[in-house]
Amino acid sequence: MSKLKTFPLFNSRLSFILDNGLRAIVENVEKNILLMGIKPGMRVLEVGCGSGFVTGYLSETVADSGFIISIDIQEKMINKAKIKRGFLKNVDFRVENASDLKSVKDQEIDLVLLYYSFHEISSKDKAVSEFHRVLKQGGILSLREPRPEVFRKDRQLYKEFIEGQGFESVGNAAICDLLGCHLKFIKK
Ligand SMILES: C[S@@+](CC[C@H](N)C(=O)[O-])C[C@H]1O[C@@H](n2cnc3c(N)ncnc32)[C@H](O)[C@@H]1O
Repeated sequence: MSKLKTFPLFNSRLSFILDNGLRAIVENVEKNILLMGIKPGMRVLEVGCGSGFVTGYLSETVADSGFIISIDIQEKMINKAKIKRGFLKNVDFRVENASDLKSVKDQEIDLVLLYYSFHEISSKDKAVSEFHRVLKQGGILSLREPRPEVFRKDRQLYKEFIEGQGFESVGNAAICDLLGCHLKFIKK
């Protein structure tokens, strides 16, 4: 476990770096979340939502028949998300730690999605065990990790670790673009 690389929490005062019009142009979030497995009608747990930049895209994709629970460990991030995107009717923003998902019931989730956040989670063993608990049988755990910050060898260690926690890899683990790489798993 100690070999799994963990980064410090993203400073909430710098959330504007993640949440701005330039990112909307440079990063194809619509395409990325489709690659990550999102579909209309799904019940999604978004872990580490920050100020909610990705949440808007998730909300649109799951549409009225779906629902998003978007969590972040930092209350300041969730406050910002609520101010900017609290109008989204199918999203519930919650302050919650991925390693202790108190408000999420067993097997209530179709897709657990982490967009640039897995590398920041400090207790990855507890978090992955929680993701397993809240996912339905056959549910999807999908990570997008940033490049170049998270190296190939670290991604490989994340992959092997998650596979050892009751998940099976799906698709090509090497799907990457300039800004990030995808890892996708199914709950066994
Ligand atoms: C780099 S930011 C990415 C934010 C957002 N997903 C985006 O792409 O704009 C990572 C976020 O993960 C959150 N985070 C880190 N560890 C967490 C944990 N254990 N539980 C919930 N959120 C966590 C941080 O607070 C931070 O807001």
